[in-house]
Amino acid sequence: MCDDLNLLLSNLNVFYRKLQNYHWNVTGADFFTTHEKLEEYYNCINKQIDEIAELIVSKNCYVMATMKEYLETSQIKEVESKKVNSCEIWKNILKDYETLIENCKKIKTDAENENCPVTSSIMDEYLKDYNKKCWMIKQIENC
Ligand SMILES: [Fe+2]
Repeated sequence: MCDDLNLLLSNLNVFYRKLQNYHWNVTGADFFTTHEKLEEYYNCINKQIDEIAELIVSKNCYVMATMKEYLETSQIKEVESKKVNSCEIWKNILKDYETLIENCKKIKTDAENENCPVTSSIMDEYLKDYNKKCWMIKQIENC
C-alpha cells in the first residue's frame, strides 16, 4: 500500500505546482473567479500532501520527499509556464482529478484488504472531495 500512497503523494505534489502555475498564468474575462478558485484548490491539495506524507511515515514506510522523485513518478504532468485561458485549465484539471480518484480507489481497496480503517476513511474523504470538484468543473459551460 505504501507504493500506492507514494504515487498519490507524488501526483499531489506535481498537481499542487500545476494549480499554482495556472493561478499565476490564467488570463481572460473570468480571471478573478478562476484565479481565486485555483487558490482554494491548491490550498486544499497542500493539506492533503502533508496528511498523506505523515500517513506513509506512520506506517514505517519510506516517504518520497524530493521534486526529482515526484517528477520521475507522477502520473500528473506539469504544464509550461505560459499564459493560459480558463477553459484549457478546467479541461486539464478535470483529468487530473480523475487520476487522483483512481489512485484513491486503489488505495481504499488495499486498505480494506489489509484492515487499515484510518487509511480507508481518509480515502473516502478525498473521493468525496474530488468527485464533488469533478461534478462542479463539468458544469462549466461555453468551453
Ligand atoms: Fe496568489
